[in-house]
Amino acid sequence: LASIEVNVGALEPGMSLTVKWRGKPVFIRNRTQQEVEEANAVPLSDLKDPVARNANLPADAEAKDIDRSAGEGKENWIVMIGSCTHLGCVPLGQAGDFGGWFCPCHGSHYDTAGRIRKGPAPQNLAIPTFTFTSDTVITIG
Ligand code: FES
Repeated sequence: LASIEVNVGALEPGMSLTVKWRGKPVFIRNRTQQEVEEANAVPLSDLKDPVARNANLPADAEAKDIDRSAGEGKENWIVMIGSCTHLGCVPLGQAGDFGGWFCPCHGSHYDTAGRIRKGPAPQNLAIPTFTFTSDTVITIG
C-alpha cells in the first residue's frame, strides 16, 4: 500500500477529490485558470513560508505556483496532504480569505496554491511524491 493510483479523468476545472493515502487525506484539485492566476500574482515576499514543500522537488525549491502544482503543462493540478501544518486538522476546500483552503480548528488560511497566508500554521500544505502515469491517472507515493 505504498502507492495508490487515482483516476482524475472526471474532474473538471474547479472540482476536487479527496483520497486516502497512508492514513491521511490527500486533496487533488483541478484548479480553474483564475485560481492559478491568483496564486501566480502573489509575490514570494508575501509568503509566510517561501519553500515549496514539494516532495518531488529539491528541499529548498521556492513556493512559486508552478512548483506547488503538478508542473509545466499541468499547472492546473495540485496534489497536497490534507493535514493542516499547525496541529493536523483537515482544512476545508474553497474557503478562507484567500479562496484556497481554511482550517477551522484555529483559523489558518491557505491560498489557491495551498500556501499558508494567515493564521498559526507554520508551513504550506505538504505535497507528496506523485506523478501522472497517464493523462488521467495520478500515482501517489
Ligand atoms: Fe489548523 Fe490549528 S490545526 S489551524
